[in-house]
Amino acid sequence: MHKNKGPVYYGDYLQLPKLLDSQLPLSRKYADETNGECHDEMLFIVVHQVYELWFKQILHDLDAILSVFNKTYIPEVELSSIIQKLERIKKIQGLLIGQFDVLETMTPMDFLEFRDLLIPASGFQSVQFREIEIKLGLHTNDRMDVDREFFMGRLSEKDRAHLTEVESSPTILKCLEGWLERLPYTNTSGFNFWDEYQKSINAILKDDQDIIEANSAHLTERAKMIQLENLKMTRGTFESLFQTESHDELIKNNQRKLSQKAILNALFILLYRHESMLTLPFHLITSLMDIDENFTTWRYRHALLAQRMLGTKIGTGGSSGHQYLKRAADNNRVFLDLFNLSTFLIPNSRLPKIPLEVKKKLSFNV
Ligand code: HEM
Repeated sequence: MHKNKGPVYYGDYLQLPKLLDSQLPLSRKYADETNGECHDEMLFIVVHQVYELWFKQILHDLDAILSVFNKTYIPEVELSSIIQKLERIKKIQGLLIGQFDVLETMTPMDFLEFRDLLIPASGFQSVQFREIEIKLGLHTNDRMDVDREFFMGRLSEKDRAHLTEVESSPTILKCLEGWLERLPYTNTSGFNFWDEYQKSINAILKDDQDIIEANSAHLTERAKMIQLENLKMTRGTFESLFQTESHDELIKNNQRKLSQKAILNALFILLYRHESMLTLPFHLITSLMDIDENFTTWRYRHALLAQRMLGTKIGTGGSSGHQYLKRAADNNRVFLDLFNLSTFLIPNSRLPKIPLEVKKKLSFNV
């Protein structure tokens, strides 16, 4: 604990003169040449500045998380502190999404009054937003070519160099992969969980096939064929989980990001989330999914804001505006692999029984 070092003045501590002197509407600067200052430009600036302040806090927390998560051994207490910070980021995201309501009190006509003064400045140049994306695990190379060009092309040399450096640092996604790969429970002496899981899957799929055959009297030949085809596809999807070649192909095509081992262990956590030792890991996984979902919600909400303000006009940064933003919302996902794991969940009653020796390791007090 730090001791007081003498009287502190509120405004000095918070640097308020500097902070409150930093809203400089361009329509005020050029008021003489145009129709005077635009009242809502102040709102536009304040809202963006508040966003940037919250981005700063998110980065502060992400850096703290990364400094721990990047280690090769993470004690339980550290895992709790990672989750606590992720939960804070989720709360901040709630504010980030809600703040659009305030900005939308500005009408498109009010925005049009000063919009042209901003060209070519754009949210593309929010270095902190890009830094958050990169630190979570959205690498520039994961973006479509056009996005990469837009982003990098609109940044100053200094900002570009900074982001390039950030891209060579650890990311939450990579740390998650390493941590998942180290999960010890799935392959211990005499017990290979994945052999047992595959047996359960085969039994479930066999049951599904029996149901189709049993009901075939009520089906046309074509309907039966379609159902059997669908079942074959489901079987193929399950097999892809275990076939390294299929997995590598998905990674190559940018359809999967986590290693096969990490994915399998994440699935184990989801399947046995009720076991004591997996409670925190399950919480970590769901927090990361929540953060991904919140960012996606933010992107959709922002795309709608752009549509409301601009219709089909292009953005000040030169993109197709609403169209670009909607596409970015669909594509710029970091933890999509975790969402896709739901494909491989099976009912509790069909889960393989875990041997006592492994069960002991998963429990606090068996
Ligand atoms: C009137 C309000 C706003 C409009 C019309 C608007 C419009 C746009 C458009 C059209 C783009 C695409 C790039 C371009 O061509 O410029 C963009 C990107 C962006 N804007 Fe906004 N925006 C608004 C408010 C905000 C606010 C309040 C933030 C908060 C920081 C923000 C952050 C961003 C970010 C981070 C990007 C890059 C997103 C990406 O590429 O995924 N924008 N904005």
